[in-house]
Amino acid sequence: MQVFKYERGKEDTVLNKAWWKEAVVYQIYPRSFMDSNGDGIGDLNGITEKLEYLKELGIDVIWLSPVYQSPNDDNGYDISDYQAIMEEFGTMEDYDRMLARAHELGIKIMMDLVVNHTSDEHAWFVESRKSVDNPYRDFYIWRKGKDGKEPNNWGSCFSGSAWKYDPQTDMYFLHLFSKKQPDLNWDNPKVRDQVFEMMNWWCEKGIDGFRMDVISLISKPEGLPDGIPGETGYADSGCATGPHVHEYLKEMNRKVLSHYDLITVGEASGVTLEEAKKYANADGSELNMVFQFEHTGGGPEADNHYGKWDSHKMPLPVWKKILSRWQTGLEGKAWNSLFLSNHDQPRSVSWFGNDSEQYREISAKMLGTCLHMMQGTPYVYQGEELGMTNAYMENIADYQGEELGMCNAYFDQLEDYRDIESLNAYKELTETCGVSHEEMMGYLKRISRDNARTPMQWDDSANAGFTTGTPWIKVNSNYPKVNAKQEVSDPDSVFSYYKKLIRLRHENEIIVYGDYELLAPEDEALFIYTRMLGTQRLMVLCNFTEKEVSIPAEVTEQIPADAKLLIGNYSKQKEKVLQAYEARVYAYHL
Ligand code: GLC
Ligand code: CA
Repeated sequence: MQVFKYERGKEDTVLNKAWWKEAVVYQIYPRSFMDSNGDGIGDLNGITEKLEYLKELGIDVIWLSPVYQSPNDDNGYDISDYQAIMEEFGTMEDYDRMLARAHELGIKIMMDLVVNHTSDEHAWFVESRKSVDNPYRDFYIWRKGKDGKEPNNWGSCFSGSAWKYDPQTDMYFLHLFSKKQPDLNWDNPKVRDQVFEMMNWWCEKGIDGFRMDVISLISKPEGLPDGIPGETGYADSGCATGPHVHEYLKEMNRKVLSHYDLITVGEASGVTLEEAKKYANADGSELNMVFQFEHTGGGPEADNHYGKWDSHKMPLPVWKKILSRWQTGLEGKAWNSLFLSNHDQPRSVSWFGNDSEQYREISAKMLGTCLHMMQGTPYVYQGEELGMTNAYMENIADYQGEELGMCNAYFDQLEDYRDIESLNAYKELTETCGVSHEEMMGYLKRISRDNARTPMQWDDSANAGFTTGTPWIKVNSNYPKVNAKQEVSDPDSVFSYYKKLIRLRHENEIIVYGDYELLAPEDEALFIYTRMLGTQRLMVLCNFTEKEVSIPAEVTEQIPADAKLLIGNYSKQKEKVLQAYEARVYAYHL
């Protein structure tokens, strides 16, 4: 239903319109999306097969997690050749076919650009480690040890020290992630030139944008000083938004981005609102937008003893405040990206909603509503549109129909996990920090990255229709009930609801460009906000609890009797209250 008319992409200097502000992005994690040849690993031909499905959903852009040649220490985020395709995923011809088919369907492709580091098997690093006078030596960050130890006390994001000793030259190299992901030295102009050249090569091929992996970490602090050590003895590197990051991104913009019509988003963990205004400045000098992570994780409630391994949840008022600060803080100055899940986060319905059989669908729709009605470019992570859940299902019994012959819950054993971050953390925390096996398994079940990496659930056949072989990671045991085939044909499914959310955004300018205002900030159960554009208004009401909750009088008073219900996740509304996980959006004119 289009309540307010508008033409997408029409030039408008007041609203500063752009196609990437009006787009909805869908993230594909290729390894787990669709396997076309039965080797248990998703691949490019599998993606091409499923493009029609994405067309049906209505998304505009695909963010493709890395498909480049890689030894797969970190599932493709360790790249050994930026201009070749990972053998397991197919060939460059397969890639070109996928790109062409996507374009035929009107879907753009945004590539994952991983240039904070390469793989240690990249030709640059193979050269670099040979000798101190090798022409590629300064492509990476090499330092001498200090008193027989690492050059400083920085910890790697994947446990242990951020330095690895290399006997060949008796020096250490820096790796903020795994030992097989050495950090590039962005202070070296040759590194920047090579990266920009590679980016231009992809742009000439006709790709439509870049999602830039940990881009906030590329500029290291002067002198690489020690940080304050935490529980594990290692310190934060302090590399987030280092001294030259904006300078390097401006250079990238001049030499690459500004020559093409791209969508760009930088992954910027630890970014502040003030910094985001620079990264995503409306003047277009750096990127279109960034991913910030303040609303994921435990927030101020978290004890932060073991970094991300903490299962605290943020109280709703805190969460609302964070998201609202980003909404109003960037308005007119920069642009937001909107997401609740990706390949590094637990499944959103399990973390922010309720994945029990009773509330899974309704809470997944509520979360979708809450996010998609905000200002910014929304990102849907594969399977989110089906309400896919975390890998370990505490309440699998709910889902288990005898007639379905369903398997037991998986991911209750370490052997089921594949993710390097999870496996390293298990080892470090249980061996050196006194965390028990049970406690650590509890963390993994709730927040391991593998929760988001189980195969896409296409249908109720073996392995959820993802592969005819043995999947590289187990399929979630609830696939007989939660799968695309069933949901595409069901008008009440999470899929159909997402389809509607996406369509509404395409049809209503206010959803893209309207101003945002939070109402009832202290309410502990309801997330209520308005969007405003001229005399148009949207009122978005979401109940984050399983209780029936009264809508504050000051809110009901604002909604005129003739307001239209734009979308809602219950077929029958009750007056003055929101039912369990209910979401409603009213549209009206002042
Ligand atoms: C980003 C990616 C993550 C990867 C890391 C190192 O955070 O999203 O999956 O492990 O960077 O490249
Ligand atoms: Ca395959």
